[in-house]
Amino acid sequence: MRNPYLPEVVPIREVIEETCDTKTFRIATHLLFNPGQFVELSVFGYGEAPISISGGGDGYLDLTIRAVGNVTNRIHRMKAGDYVGIRGPFGNGWPLEKAKGKNLLIVAGGIGLAPLKPVVEYVCRHREEFKMVTLLYGARRPSLMLFKYKFREWEKFMDLLLTVDEPEEGWKGHVGVVTTLCDKIKHRSDTITLMCGPPIMMKYTSMVLIELGFPPSEIYLSLERNMKCGIGICGHCAVGGVYVCRDGPVFSLNKALRFIEKPHEVQGVLD
Ligand SMILES: Cc1cc2nc3c(=O)[nH]c(=O)nc-3n(C[C@H](O)[C@H](O)[C@H](O)COP(=O)(O)OP(=O)(O)OC[C@H]3O[C@@H](n4cnc5c(N)ncnc54)[C@H](O)[C@@H]3O)c2cc1C
Ligand code: FES
Repeated sequence: MRNPYLPEVVPIREVIEETCDTKTFRIATHLLFNPGQFVELSVFGYGEAPISISGGGDGYLDLTIRAVGNVTNRIHRMKAGDYVGIRGPFGNGWPLEKAKGKNLLIVAGGIGLAPLKPVVEYVCRHREEFKMVTLLYGARRPSLMLFKYKFREWEKFMDLLLTVDEPEEGWKGHVGVVTTLCDKIKHRSDTITLMCGPPIMMKYTSMVLIELGFPPSEIYLSLERNMKCGIGICGHCAVGGVYVCRDGPVFSLNKALRFIEKPHEVQGVLD
């Protein structure tokens, strides 16, 4: 059996600048994944970090990474041809099968669009499998929006509702937090919601969606916890009897409510 702690050593094929602090690293690998899964990324000599898979294709997968600390700042200085390690894919991913035949609401804040991008791309390729589809995306400023070069394509397949907290020159779209767009969603019942973003955004958006009649059991959130092993062994990500790395990172709001009461890191999402 392969040692689950041993990374696959793979070259970076391409680096795509997304915003001032975020880049997408296209990694040469044949690893298969489900939308919403993540890998443990090693930058040798610096450490490991869990990173969602933001896309993939023949012989590659994409990791969209914001520079915040040790590992992420170091990879931001790397270029095509440099080598990194990956373990995975880990985690359960989004419940796409459950969403088929239903309306789909995708809600993303900031870098939270990265783990949802494979869902958006799946919808574009298999539009007939869903009823109405809405993507609601908010960022602090227009220049911090990820994947802007994809928006025109995505709009052909779904309602794309964009908002920013602070407009910049040339921005003609909506201004306000993500929740201010919720009343523009054209569907309510028979809808599966997939959401990822900062805890405060997920908390308030969940509350507004519930008020609008979206049932908590049909709202799914991707949660972040500090992780080490990524495979349910070390206990770093344990909360209320679940391991976020192994049992998540995607949980229904309904389920998350049962274990989110105490631990402060996740608490903000819901109370
Ligand atoms: C399942 C999962 C998927 C993730 N997917 C992505 C992804 O696709 N892209 C991505 O960029 N990040 C993602 N993250 C977050 C990423 O793992 C952390 O930002 C990363 O561990 C930082 O590692 P580091 O060594 O660079 O920072 P560290 O050196 O560990 O931390 C440096 C500083 O940054 C702070 N910090 C750590 N994480 C965050 C954070 N998320 N936001 C703000 N401050 C932080 C720390 O508190 C510390 O003060 C994901 C996390 C999880 C659990
Ligand atoms: S990170 Fe080790 S148990 Fe989840």
